[in-house]
Amino acid sequence: MKLQNDLILRAAKGEAIERYPVWLMRQAGRILPEYRDVRASLSGFKELVETPERAAEVTIQPVDILGVDAAIIFSDILVVPEAMGLEYQMLEKSGPWFEKTIRSEEGLKYAETNFDIEDRLGYVLEAIRITNKELNGRVPLIGFAGAPWTIFCYMVEGRGSKTFSESRKLLYTNPTLAHELLSRITDVTIQYLKAQVKAGAHMLQVFDSWAGILGTEQYAEFGLKYLDKIVSAVNEVPITLFSKGAITSVNAVAKLNCNTVGLDWNMDLVKIREEIGETRTLQGNLDPCALYSSHKEVENLTNNMLNSFKSRRHIVNLGHGVYPDIDPEKVKTFIQTVKNYEISHK
Ligand code: CP3
Repeated sequence: MKLQNDLILRAAKGEAIERYPVWLMRQAGRILPEYRDVRASLSGFKELVETPERAAEVTIQPVDILGVDAAIIFSDILVVPEAMGLEYQMLEKSGPWFEKTIRSEEGLKYAETNFDIEDRLGYVLEAIRITNKELNGRVPLIGFAGAPWTIFCYMVEGRGSKTFSESRKLLYTNPTLAHELLSRITDVTIQYLKAQVKAGAHMLQVFDSWAGILGTEQYAEFGLKYLDKIVSAVNEVPITLFSKGAITSVNAVAKLNCNTVGLDWNMDLVKIREEIGETRTLQGNLDPCALYSSHKEVENLTNNMLNSFKSRRHIVNLGHGVYPDIDPEKVKTFIQTVKNYEISHK
């Protein structure tokens, strides 16, 4: 299927673009009333994730309603630990919750690797196929997975946490077990990302949401090492690495074999560009809270960010997922400002 808008793919590869592409992390769901309607017609988040026709429907909503330059498949990073043997629940107020956790060798029985991806995660692959059929080439479709370190955090902790101290504790008390679990997650993630590409994903993003809770050296050992394995194995389509909060490791991330490096809003885009040159595309990084300001101010803040770009190698996004109570009209202002921006002088 020929894509009518392949701006984001060209930007990721460092090819010529006529304007900066724009999308938002967590654009599918959360902010749109249309999403909440679909969600309310089902038993909950998991049913939506596991029903490919409905997942495809909410994947396409932000393309229709917001005018983004890419769709991201509606799913969750937690489908991987579930496929490996740890079932999760999405609790209404508190978020993800796992009944079982992995804190000893015995727990490794809940970290299976020998299974067929189509068998256990076929619902995501089917959602990708349906989405592409319905998008009919309008925009590229982004597939994704959690980074091994972030998935490890949930498998050990069993729920969200500010500190993930059980997960970090294991790095000191049983590093051998930690590496074994990280290796297993990496194996499955590689297979899963390749399966998404086969099903039709045009590009991929790996979310390392908890990268920032590790020190630089620990992130090299327990985070980057496994991201490196992923980007070495998966090179069929452009791939973005987003190591949220890993301020002291951005240059190391940029050295890995990825196309795009995701930046959060604490990261200094200008400085990072100076350091890495034109070798990688940068994605981000407006503070998600900027969208709480007035329309005029959203426009100003977005233009300030665009003006700070010294290169064409950018994909515009927020510095993290859009917050659930943001007015979709503000998101439209953000997107329109990017689309109106003249890049001929860059
Ligand atoms: O639009 C998109 O980006 C596609 C869908 C998507 C979801 N989760 C749907 C979702 C993506 C890419 C994710 C990734 C994800 N999930 C991450 C990495 C990105 C990040 O935000 O750092 C993480 C850490 C998770 C785990 C997770 N899923 C948590 C902690 C929660 C609860 C709190 C929250 O974020 O709302 C979820 C639930 C979740 N995943 C929702 C959605 C739309 C909200 C649930 C609902 O609609 O009831």
